[in-house]
Amino acid sequence: MENVICNVNGKLAEVIINRPKALNALNSQTIKELGEVIDDLSSNKEVKVVIITGSGDKSFVAGADIKEMRDLNAMEGRALGRLAQKVFSNIEHMPQTVIAAVNGYALGGGCELASACDMRLASKKAKFGQPEVTLGITPGFAGTQRLPRLIGKGLAKEIIFTGDMIDVEEAYRIGLVNKVYDPDELMDKAREMANKIASRGTVAVSLAKAAINDGLNMDTESAYKYEADIFGLCFSTEDQKEGMTAFIEKRKADFKGC
Ligand code: CAA
Repeated sequence: MENVICNVNGKLAEVIINRPKALNALNSQTIKELGEVIDDLSSNKEVKVVIITGSGDKSFVAGADIKEMRDLNAMEGRALGRLAQKVFSNIEHMPQTVIAAVNGYALGGGCELASACDMRLASKKAKFGQPEVTLGITPGFAGTQRLPRLIGKGLAKEIIFTGDMIDVEEAYRIGLVNKVYDPDELMDKAREMANKIASRGTVAVSLAKAAINDGLNMDTESAYKYEADIFGLCFSTEDQKEGMTAFIEKRKADFKGC
């Protein structure tokens, strides 16, 4: 692959968007490569947590590639949107936990990619924004949908309508970012969080992800029933027996992920 690096190390996978000369902007090739990497990782039973970051120390992803987009027609623009939406949706719904380690600019498609991840850890240098309206377009990689669900309609409208960037303190204040770290400790902290999640009951974490993601798209009563079904399903796993037995025997659980 030319623009995406994937390093698998035991239970963790690190996916690096690697177009530093364009501040890791997502051209269609990069989006397709990311899609292939995510498909491969989704079916990898060894990998429990995926960290997505950008190469270099300046940018996570500076958006969709403006140079590639300038001459698109309406049908091509829609196809690009659908392509990235599908890849980001696969990230959102993959069985593993996905952590965005936001090491710099997360603009437009970059903010949308980070928003599709389960959580966002950011460096003090990170900046977020949806500058599409400054280019005469709307967000097209699901930013108009995920951002308001993450931070609320009013704040999402402010960010999208003004096109302004926000710094990491503001992103943390409004709940777009889970944690903020010094740039040189970001990846270690992301790995620490990833290892902690990977040490938990794999099926439970994966089912909790599905319960949150899918439940939020249901009416409340259906979501409660769905949660109870998922809760019940946990009792068919070895991890549940091991987790509860380990508690009673006052030892650390040794989860097998089944
Ligand atoms: N697409 C293509 N190239 C990009 C890019 C992008 N989104 N962002 C940066 N680059 C390129 C620049 O063109 C430049 O290339 P050249 O050296 O060949 O000129 C290189 O990366 C370095 O960028 P700058 O010189 O601009 O770096 P800077 O430090 O002065 O500024 C920045 C950094 C503020 C991030 C600025 O690059 C910028 O504003 N980039 C565009 C951000 C943007 O508007 N993103 C949204 C895109 S639209 C979108 O994402 C739609 C959607 O919903 C999916």
